[in-house]
Amino acid sequence: MDNFNDISSPRALLATRRSGKARDMVAPGPDAAQLAAMLAVAARVPDHGKLAPWRFITVAPEARAGFAALLETAYRHEHAAPGATEIEAIRNFAHQAPCLVIVVSQPVSASHIPRWEQELSAGAATMQLCNAAHAQGFVANWLTGCCLMWRISGSRTLMTVRRGATSTP
Ligand SMILES: Cc1cc2nc3c(=O)[nH]c(=O)nc-3n(C[C@H](O)[C@H](O)[C@H](O)COP(=O)(O)O)c2cc1C
Repeated sequence: MDNFNDISSPRALLATRRSGKARDMVAPGPDAAQLAAMLAVAARVPDHGKLAPWRFITVAPEARAGFAALLETAYRHEHAAPGATEIEAIRNFAHQAPCLVIVVSQPVSASHIPRWEQELSAGAATMQLCNAAHAQGFVANWLTGCCLMWRISGSRTLMTVRRGATSTP
């Protein structure tokens, strides 16, 4: 295929979809209005029960260092004696690409909708976010990498997410 992310029509875009590599991405990323439009599209996914069981967290440039520290803390929870190379890779992860959005799966446990359906909706939202970025002429990359590690360890929560707010203890 010689024309990736062909935005001449919705069908062409879906047929030619291709990720970019986050580590190769350069500025400019989307401005605030473009990013808001992408997130609105991302939220238009199948969502059984209309629970919105996902959250989007945009990591501002000035928050990248804090995010890197958070990832490192999470990694150290999981790995007893990480090497310097591992830690460097984790810190670099937080600084790549001009725009970084964290998609958090946040199932509503009180709902009768099964958790796995809610998690699939979060995955669909992530895919939709990538497609929305491509539709606006940007490239996107869906990465989990080390970031699958958000979890409650003992009684300490590494990150809490509430509607409209995020905090890192
Ligand atoms: C849930 C999920 C997690 C992923 N995590 C990573 C990752 O951590 N690192 C990576 O290189 N690719 C990851 N990928 C794959 C890339 O997003 C991408 O799909 C892959 O590089 C193939 O490129 P393409 O999207 O152009 O087909 C992940 C894909 C999915 C669906």
